[in-house]
Amino acid sequence: MISIAWVTGAGGLIGSHIVQAGRALAPTWTLAPITRAHFDLADFRAVRGAFHSAKPGLVIHCAAMSRSPACEADPKEARRQNVEITRCLAEAAADIPFLFFSTDQVFDGRTGDYDEDAPVNPIGVYGATKAEAEAIVLANPRHMVIRTSLNGGRSPTGDRGFNEQMLRAWSRGQTLNLFEDEFRSPIHARFTAATAWRIALEGKAGVYHVAGAEKLSRWEIGELMSRRWPELKPRTRKTSLRDYSGAPRPPDTTLNIAKALRLPGVELPRFSDWLRGEPPGSF
Ligand SMILES: NC(=O)c1ccc[n+]([C@@H]2O[C@H](COP(=O)([O-])OP(=O)(O)OC[C@H]3O[C@@H](n4cnc5c(N)ncnc54)[C@H](OP(=O)(O)O)[C@@H]3O)[C@@H](O)[C@H]2O)c1
Repeated sequence: MISIAWVTGAGGLIGSHIVQAGRALAPTWTLAPITRAHFDLADFRAVRGAFHSAKPGLVIHCAAMSRSPACEADPKEARRQNVEITRCLAEAAADIPFLFFSTDQVFDGRTGDYDEDAPVNPIGVYGATKAEAEAIVLANPRHMVIRTSLNGGRSPTGDRGFNEQMLRAWSRGQTLNLFEDEFRSPIHARFTAATAWRIALEGKAGVYHVAGAEKLSRWEIGELMSRRWPELKPRTRKTSLRDYSGAPRPPDTTLNIAKALRLPGVELPRFSDWLRGEPPGSF
């Protein structure tokens, strides 16, 4: 019998890497990458109809309103995209494994090094919608949640990875303002995707933190990237959250990845080590 795996958000950064990784890691599954061109996931009738006819055996749900500023600008739409779509898919997938992509932004960022049992306390709209969706997903004991951090890599649209945004800004001669006191656990989406498959195929329900093994400030990430691409003549300016007055930003959302690392075959490198060994064209 053919088993179909739906991958939503397949036109985005992580979804596209999930599809690529699945070809190698999940050869017995027929991958069904779902992009906006197939249907709008907010059209719940279309979603239920497509689900009913395709009868997937696994859903990896990557589609989201994933940019924090867009969520802050339109909280109602953010809730529709991040909560209601997830509810519709999780309900359709009630009897099969369902893996939902969440974020480190569910934490308030006061302590960092969050493990899976740390209480969520989002301070922004994006994190709040993801925390609400997590609770819906986790009500089903078969279902899985991955919280990930800042992901890089090549995206189909060329503008979704943090690396793509930095390199594009530098190519245009822009100076990047980077916080020295905002910390993340950056990772290439290739590792996030491979780990997601390990979790999905193990079928182990619950929450997993999947991120890079290194705590870096935005400024440190910029320094590493500048040294790697000197030909772009990168320009950065060190800034501080103390002087920032925009939408709320959790200062340290670094994730403790010990649980994911205990799964067989999982590799979550330090970002700086990985970047050193990587040919420039792949990032
Ligand atoms: N990338 C990161 O650093 C990061 C960090 C933490 C968590 N996450 C989470 O990981 C998941 C994947 O992130 P990502 O970076 O791959 O996001 P992304 O690059 O923005 O991709 C999301 C994809 O979903 C599609 N989509 C959104 N709403 C849709 C709808 N109603 N119908 C059909 N398609 C829809 C988007 O299409 P359009 O482009 O047309 O809108 C886009 O192709 C998300 O849940 C995100 O919140 C990502």
